[in-house]
Amino acid sequence: MKQKSIELLNKAVADELTAVHQYMYFHFHCDDQGFDLLANIFKRTAIEEMMHIELLAERILFLKGEVDILASEEVKKKTDVKEMLKMAAAMEEKSANDYNHWANECAQNADSVSKKLFEQLVADEERHFDQYDVEMENMKKFGDNYLALQSIERSKIIGTPPQATQ
Ligand SMILES: [Fe+2]
Ligand SMILES: [Fe+2]
Repeated sequence: MKQKSIELLNKAVADELTAVHQYMYFHFHCDDQGFDLLANIFKRTAIEEMMHIELLAERILFLKGEVDILASEEVKKKTDVKEMLKMAAAMEEKSANDYNHWANECAQNADSVSKKLFEQLVADEERHFDQYDVEMENMKKFGDNYLALQSIERSKIIGTPPQATQ
């Protein structure tokens, strides 16, 4: 029973690590292209996924397992913003689906704490999915103007002269 939970928790660690790497990659490229809002969303989400790893690792150690810090997949080199959002939304959808199943498996093995942890993560991944979905909708609605506005916003900040101190 413990062994199955440790295995599932480690699978989740591997997927979360993949998400951290992928979202940081997206963050760097959005930042490089001047899209501050999206860059921040990816960075903030990467940090949340890292916190998921912490929760999973604590549980694995409690069950006297070892934490395998190995990403499940390599980073995909996508630099087109629409492609990034599509991939990120799909990753969140898959995580939510997997964690739902793994919560059930843990429940069947009478490990209710791991079950609850997976359920907590499902709620977070659904929220992450939603934020990417909203961004995809915005891009559909406003087209390239949506990204142009983010670049203008950055130029405005950089172009504003510093306030004189008195
Ligand atoms: Fe996560
Ligand atoms: Fe997520």
